Amino acid sequence: MSEKGLHLGLIMDGNGRWAKMRHLPRTAGHLAGLKSLKKVVLGAINQNVKYLSLYCFSTENWKRSEEEVKYLMSLFSSKIYGELPFYNENGIRILTLGDLSPLPEDAKKAIADTIRATENNSVITVQLAINYGGQSEICQAVGRAVADGVTEFTPEILRSYFEHPEIPPVDVIARSAGEIRLSNFLLYDSAYAEFIFCDKLWPDWNEEDVAFVLKEYSHRVRRFGGVK
Ligand code: FPP
Repeated sequence: MSEKGLHLGLIMDGNGRWAKMRHLPRTAGHLAGLKSLKKVVLGAINQNVKYLSLYCFSTENWKRSEEEVKYLMSLFSSKIYGELPFYNENGIRILTLGDLSPLPEDAKKAIADTIRATENNSVITVQLAINYGGQSEICQAVGRAVADGVTEFTPEILRSYFEHPEIPPVDVIARSAGEIRLSNFLLYDSAYAEFIFCDKLWPDWNEEDVAFVLKEYSHRVRRFGGVK
């Protein structure tokens, strides 16, 4: 963990299965997932997490049905800015990670307004990964570095061209809903992250699941390739 504080990444999986089990459309699972997200953010604050990165929409999620993509975009347009009192009451700074350019204009505006309105909050930084992919993140950083005339790379030099180099690398990544894979999330920064996989579907998560993840993490011995 850096001296800036703990960075937790979450892969919020299982919304579709949660809805299917209830004979509801997949979109109902995403709405339920948004509700659990608020509980999880409060749980992260209680556990003194300083950075929380949330995988909201991947560069591959555009392959989903038009209805589902449209619904997720409508959540970004209508729900992110609407939670401003919640962010300000709890000291939550919102940032995003990923290429927002293909998003609908109202979603881009809502996100930009939210980032601006929460920039002085300092209890926790919540990064929403939207149209994010770890491979694209690396390619875009290389592109920016090359345009800047960089010819010799180190891991640190390349990382300085990432979108938010000031944010420390993720310490622990947890994934809900039983799948054991990274799905293109935080590829570069997860080099020495700890991984925790939980069976519970994302819409069933709450404060206690964050406490469970961090308790599990506290038992891990991190050696970063060295010897303890
Ligand atoms: C994966 O479950 C979940 C997603 C692709 C979307 C996650 C988005 C949210 C929780 C809402 C975020 C919204 C805002 C405004 C921040 P899945 O659909 O792949 O589930 P399945 O594997 O059971 O089908």
